[in-house]
Amino acid sequence: MEVQGILFISNYFKKQAITQLRSMSADFNIKNYFFKRLFDSIYFFNFILHECGENLENIKQKIVQKLKSEKICFIRNILFVDKIFYNLNDNLSILQDYIVSKINTSFFIQCLTYNTKLKAREIEVRLGKAIETITDYQADFVNPKQIVAIILYKNTCYLSITNIENLLYMYLDPFRFWYRKSKSEIICRSQFKLLEVISRLKINLNLFKNALDIGASPGGWSKVLLDHHLNVTSIDPAELDPRIVGKVNHIKKKIEEVLGILPKKFDLLVNDMNLPPLHTVDLLNKVSKLLVNNALVITTFKIFLPYKIDETLKNIVSRMSKNFKLRNILNLYSNKKELIGVFEKNE
Ligand SMILES: C[S@@+](CC[C@H](N)C(=O)[O-])C[C@H]1O[C@@H](n2cnc3c(N)ncnc32)[C@H](O)[C@@H]1O
Repeated sequence: MEVQGILFISNYFKKQAITQLRSMSADFNIKNYFFKRLFDSIYFFNFILHECGENLENIKQKIVQKLKSEKICFIRNILFVDKIFYNLNDNLSILQDYIVSKINTSFFIQCLTYNTKLKAREIEVRLGKAIETITDYQADFVNPKQIVAIILYKNTCYLSITNIENLLYMYLDPFRFWYRKSKSEIICRSQFKLLEVISRLKINLNLFKNALDIGASPGGWSKVLLDHHLNVTSIDPAELDPRIVGKVNHIKKKIEEVLGILPKKFDLLVNDMNLPPLHTVDLLNKVSKLLVNNALVITTFKIFLPYKIDETLKNIVSRMSKNFKLRNILNLYSNKKELIGVFEKNE
């Protein structure tokens, strides 16, 4: 049996991501793994499965569920490919017939293309309209139950139709959806990191009251916190964007300078300081005294070279455990040479 799929990973954390996928499938008597980069951070994989008494669908589901339960995850997304169409030559009808035969609920079509005549958006709109007309099912961009993923690489199409619960994350290219927001809402690209982690982990920011944003300038993360009606204290020696000036309590200093004057009241700490990872950890441990018990912490860890990734990660986890419980460390679509960590302050 052959299993084929698409992995969304960072080229920077490729070794870790591939090792992780291999370990997720170690129980299933798989050998002959094959990985090939298609474009950007999108990889095709293929593995041969020896008979192991398990049904193929169960195996795919188990791999995804195992990945979902991993606290540390280098894989941004994974799709198992249902069918590969070679020499598609812009002939969408063959694709359309196949999708129609598999759709049985509300759906969301996402297409990514490389070196093709047809644009991704055009394919999505044409297929979406046709499928709505032929079937009774509607496209739903907010709460779809099935995701139709079309990866079109030159003349080859990798098609995957997946129930939403068998996906790590609903979006294949989340930036496209955030860019559709009005320009006044997006202060900088960093904002996407916070938007992505809360949507991937389904964190409800409305549950918090007092947020501390360190390394806040120009203010993308503070803007997200304001949008969730939090009281925001933003720490950064640099200026904030005029769109949020006056709406947050901006202290124009380094966090080290204000540790002694801030009250202990914050139930949410977010940090995006551009500092070496273990320096970040030391500062977070100091800031922990400003947090109430069980406060949530969302932080980036910039892992630029010459840091050894595995060793640095081990040190991060071990030193953070002094004051915090690990929930997740992830590499997201919006993280390049960095990881994003979510922790809770120990009681
Ligand atoms: C990547 S930017 C943050 C972007 C921000 N998250 C946003 O969405 O707009 C990093 C910021 O960290 C700030 N920074 C670096 N060291 C700091 C420190 N010790 N205390 C406070 N801010 C610091 C820098 O001034 C810089 O503005």
